[in-house]
Amino acid sequence: MESINISTLQNWKNKKNKFAAITAYDFSFAKLFSNQGIPIILVGDSLGMTFQGHDSTIPVTVQNIEYHTKAVRKGAPNVFLISDLPFMSYCQINQALKNTSKIIQSGANMIKIEGGKNLIHIIRELSSHSILVCGHIGLTPQHIDYLSGYKIQGRNEKDANKIIEEALLLEDAGIKMLVLECIPAKLSKIITEKLSIPVIGIGAGNYTDGQILVMQDLLGITEGKKLKFTKNFLSQNGSIQNAIKTYIYEVKKGIFPNEKNSF
Ligand code: KIV
Repeated sequence: MESINISTLQNWKNKKNKFAAITAYDFSFAKLFSNQGIPIILVGDSLGMTFQGHDSTIPVTVQNIEYHTKAVRKGAPNVFLISDLPFMSYCQINQALKNTSKIIQSGANMIKIEGGKNLIHIIRELSSHSILVCGHIGLTPQHIDYLSGYKIQGRNEKDANKIIEEALLLEDAGIKMLVLECIPAKLSKIITEKLSIPVIGIGAGNYTDGQILVMQDLLGITEGKKLKFTKNFLSQNGSIQNAIKTYIYEVKKGIFPNEKNSF
């Protein structure tokens, strides 16, 4: 696969070519996903839940992200690799710079951080050092106690306007991509249209430029309550390879997510 970079993703946004992304945490899955044509992999701090068995992303450390980023990069040398800066690892500028350099040196192309207005100065500083930053708003799992649980965000007009305002502020500060998590599809449509950078959704309907799923959800190996916005692509497709190819195809064609997967 040809190397994917930020210009590739920006071109897809400009041309309205939808694209799929997935989380991965190790060499073998990263290689398999990349071989099926996945252009973007996220080493998400969701690994705290899916890999380490915690009930939130909060215990994840910078060292954990470095370790998994190195493994994923070895498996998928040509994908565009985004890695999360974990909980409270980017509150101060010097701390954010130090932790970002560790993660970029581990093989990430871009770092992702959760939050709005409070991150403006951090984004400006990282961007001034030519670091690619991805924002993440809507449901932000690192703030799970503050949000009182995993709930859809932006349901009323006031909250929706706050999310739109945050998206615009983050773009102005210099983010080059934005993740919208668990917000109504109508709201993500407005944000995707207003922003000139690529917008990726999870539980945000199918108007976004790209979609991302946690690999365990996509493969149907997350035990417990089925999340409305996910889909088990493995059950109908016989192999993990075919499940990934179908996911990529359905996102490109706008088949996934459908209305039943949206809020
Ligand atoms: O950590 C993660 O996997 C994420 C995705 C849900 C976008 O942030």
